Amino acid sequence: MSLSNKTILISGASSGIGKATAKLLVANGANAVLIARSSQRLKALAAELGAKALALRCDVTSVAQLEASVQAAVERFGTLDALFANAGIYLAGDVAGGLPSAWSELLDVNIKGVMNSVHAVLPTFLEKGSGDILVCSSISGYQAIHWEPVYSASKHAIQAFTHGLRRQLSQKGIRVGAVAPGMVLNELWGIHDQAEIDRRANAGEGLRSEDVAEAVLFMLTRPSNITIRDLVMLPRTQDL
Ligand SMILES: NC(=O)c1ccc[n+]([C@@H]2O[C@H](COP(=O)([O-])OP(=O)(O)OC[C@H]3O[C@@H](n4cnc5c(N)ncnc54)[C@H](OP(=O)(O)O)[C@@H]3O)[C@@H](O)[C@H]2O)c1
Repeated sequence: MSLSNKTILISGASSGIGKATAKLLVANGANAVLIARSSQRLKALAAELGAKALALRCDVTSVAQLEASVQAAVERFGTLDALFANAGIYLAGDVAGGLPSAWSELLDVNIKGVMNSVHAVLPTFLEKGSGDILVCSSISGYQAIHWEPVYSASKHAIQAFTHGLRRQLSQKGIRVGAVAPGMVLNELWGIHDQAEIDRRANAGEGLRSEDVAEAVLFMLTRPSNITIRDLVMLPRTQDL
């Protein structure tokens, strides 16, 4: 399926996987609606991408901001064809020393943020009888990774949500799937240096954000009879 003039809403588009995906999808003809909290970073990306990009400050924990973003997307591009629910935050550490307030924030973004985003696009998709919903999960949604139990729980929750959602929508022309990367070398880990990313990616220690973007492009461009329900991708040497 061609992405030419398809409009995709990408959450967490200000950095990492979301930013790389926005660049790749626009290069493949799509319009990209970029949402995140950092408006300056979004504006800079939109300026780079040109008329096919729209930057909107939006916190995915806010239902009202998401609904306004969907409305703005439809006003600008005429419709909305796909959602990449990608925004997420990370937290590691022992439960005993953890902060319940920090867990709440993570669960709000990683779980409710995805659910809110899906809820905001569904009226448009249901009215059209088509649409693609992709969620950014993680290998941590498949295995209970003991150094990051709260994050791992959030991604397990998202797996369950995605699979249930897919079955609710499969007869309505809407595809639902999740991409689940292992270690991605980017800001989530405090990695900014391109030389470090290249060195470690070449050693098979981590994925590039652009590798995940390629997976998203693959999932979105399958013929309409195919749903890629789950795509798990790991750096070659990741021992999980
Ligand atoms: N990096 C990895 O190793 C890895 C592996 C597997 C899965 N993932 C998943 O990949 C997704 C993207 O993360 P990344 O690796 O690209 O890390 P990243 O560079 O830190 O990007 C996270 C993005 O989420 C946005 N975000 C955070 N809280 C938000 C909120 N409340 N509302 C709207 N946007 C929000 C951030 O933008 P603002 O701060 O501007 O809002 C940023 O654009 C996450 O779901 C993460 O769990 C990452």
